[in-house]
Amino acid sequence: MYKIEEVKTKPFHDQKPGTSGLRKEVRTFQQPHYLENFIQAIFNAMPGGVKNSSLVLGGDGRYYNREAVQIIIKMAAANKISRLLVGAGGICSTPAVSNMIRKLGLSGGIILSASHNPGGPDGDFGVKFNIGNGGPAPEKVTFNIYEKSLALESYLIAKGPDVDIDTIGAVYEICDMRLEIIDPVKDYVELMESIFDFNLISRLLHGGFRMVYDALHAVTGPYARAIFVDRLGAPEECLRNCQPLPDFGGGHPDPNLKYAKELVDIMNSPTGPDFGAASDGDGDRNMILGRGLFVTPSDSVAILSAHATDVPGYKKGLCGVARSMPTSTALDMVAEDLGVDCYETPTGWKFFGNLLDAGRITICGEESFGTGSDHVREKDGLWAVLFWLNILALRGVSVKDIVLTHWQKYGRNYYTRHDFEAVEPEGAHRMMRALEEKLPRLSGSVLASRKVSLADNFCYHDPIDGSESCNQGIRIIFEDKSRIIYRLSGTGTKGATIRIYIEGYTKESSLLAQDTQVFLKDLIDTSRQISQIEAFTGRKEPTVIT
Ligand code: G1P
Ligand code: ZN
Repeated sequence: MYKIEEVKTKPFHDQKPGTSGLRKEVRTFQQPHYLENFIQAIFNAMPGGVKNSSLVLGGDGRYYNREAVQIIIKMAAANKISRLLVGAGGICSTPAVSNMIRKLGLSGGIILSASHNPGGPDGDFGVKFNIGNGGPAPEKVTFNIYEKSLALESYLIAKGPDVDIDTIGAVYEICDMRLEIIDPVKDYVELMESIFDFNLISRLLHGGFRMVYDALHAVTGPYARAIFVDRLGAPEECLRNCQPLPDFGGGHPDPNLKYAKELVDIMNSPTGPDFGAASDGDGDRNMILGRGLFVTPSDSVAILSAHATDVPGYKKGLCGVARSMPTSTALDMVAEDLGVDCYETPTGWKFFGNLLDAGRITICGEESFGTGSDHVREKDGLWAVLFWLNILALRGVSVKDIVLTHWQKYGRNYYTRHDFEAVEPEGAHRMMRALEEKLPRLSGSVLASRKVSLADNFCYHDPIDGSESCNQGIRIIFEDKSRIIYRLSGTGTKGATIRIYIEGYTKESSLLAQDTQVFLKDLIDTSRQISQIEAFTGRKEPTVIT
């Protein structure tokens, strides 16, 4: 029924994977051969080769997901992958894919998602490739994929009818490949039950504590229903936007103060719920809110680490922690207190993989709403939500109590990220070059009455495999622990996105409850002056402030 064909093609030259996979507008992916070329490049670059390999495939359900799944099934069969598991409906969250790879010992996985970017015909699409440890392909593999894409002359595809991907348990033979349609939710729920005290959390949710979870019409809807309602017994009303939609209901499936505004408003009401949370398109990000309080992701990873032994899965304590370079240093202080190492990695989850595999770290996180641990090799949105619920259930206090107590002990790292999106790329690159040139003069200078202790372009030396990843962002670190960081985004699809990360620190108890933008005002002004961002880009104000 299926006939393998070798289709002639030409390289596209723009298939270089970014911070997390290849992310482009849907329209770009819909060009003839575009998706096929990239998938063939992945197969050609697969560590260990395609022969006898097994993969899992799933996506966040965004527009073009189903079409892409059919193409990839047929290409996998033609390329002699021996076993392919596909999440029913073509659905699987990123952490669930990671779990599946690890649990079943697969060679890797393909995730169809542009994460938190908008979907629909005018939105974005993306392809991520994960390796056998369950994590995103490291740079040596993504570089290889890119190289293979540049050398591509043809791809292999099994021509034949589309497959029914909606029946859980269905098994097909296509060419010599075994194709299994699997439940994308079940194994993930079991994993969560093995880490957290579900009975304790269930008692909390039955005892007058009110939570609300917003899936932003993205992939976590079915996972959240299975966990919070079916398993933990929370009322149906705690779920918001839990019906996955190909265009995410027209919104950005990005859990932050701008795109999850409805949830933020609910939580800001004095009679609002006790706990609010949201996740992104593919389920790896999380936002945590208490009544009238937003927990910054940098604080969240520090607080979870400080409370790790509250959770059955981390009873033995942590072997170490890690954060991406722009993430605030709140985690470093917890690590110091716990007497464990804190690693600083470049932006992107792939850099945590080696540390997790080597048993150097247990928990890690990024300021960009990513938190996770060694239970999978991806950040994990619902895991973070359950972690918070487990702590709250055990301690019997509010989110605000937990956060205030933490600040009182460790001090507070005020933190904000200013994004200048869809900037004209030429100006953005010139600005970064000019900053780089200024670095030698900045070291040791005094800015806004603070002495600069270090000014550099961050370069990471992986302690496990010795690889080096440079040019990861301009850092200006002050003696009083304040920091200003500049990076160009590696996930945007329109123009360039400049991210400026600003951090200030205080241990003064009278200063713990300030407004973040007010507390950081002089550092924010300084960040604009040093970079001359307006002169280079014509932009005065950021498009998103988190
Ligand atoms: C952004 C975040 C980064 C995260 C990535 C994938 O990348 O900043 O922390 O790992 O999305 O979710 P960026 O656009 O900054 O390159
Ligand atoms: Zn994501």
